[in-house]
Amino acid sequence: MRPNAIKHAYSSPMRSKALRVVLLSGALCVVGCASSLYVPTADDVRAGGSLTTLLQGREVYVQKCGSCHLLYLPETLGEAEWGNRLNEMAGRAKLSVSEKEIVFEYLKSGVARAAKK
Ligand code: HEC
Repeated sequence: MRPNAIKHAYSSPMRSKALRVVLLSGALCVVGCASSLYVPTADDVRAGGSLTTLLQGREVYVQKCGSCHLLYLPETLGEAEWGNRLNEMAGRAKLSVSEKEIVFEYLKSGVARAAKK
């Protein structure tokens, strides 16, 4: 391990912006709390979709979207906003076209689930 590299990562502007967002919104989830991240069930499947796809989308989201910042909970944004954010972030997270699609399906189902409550 290189302690200097770690220190640098924590003091970078990007990191402190992400931390500020966490403190302000309280709506993020660290990778360690991924277990509290919404898990889709059969009730969340939309026409033309499948539970497997939603679960795979969640998996990709957890694996690839939490390396730079904490995971944003699906219900904190609307569908259109998620579409825009994904367009920005898919490249950063090096998502394939199909990974991006299933992450979007997962996030949208989380938005819909929250709206039903
Ligand atoms: C390579 C680093 C990196 C990866 C990987 C990454 N992000 Fe980000 N993300 C950032 C940075 C940096 C910001 C801070 C705001 C900005 O630069 O737009 C951010 C901000 C965000 C925001 C908040 C945008 C706002 O409205 O302020 C969301 C939502 C987001 N990311 C979602 C994702 C999703 C979904 C993925 C996975 C597809 C992902 N991120 C992967 C670096 C990353």
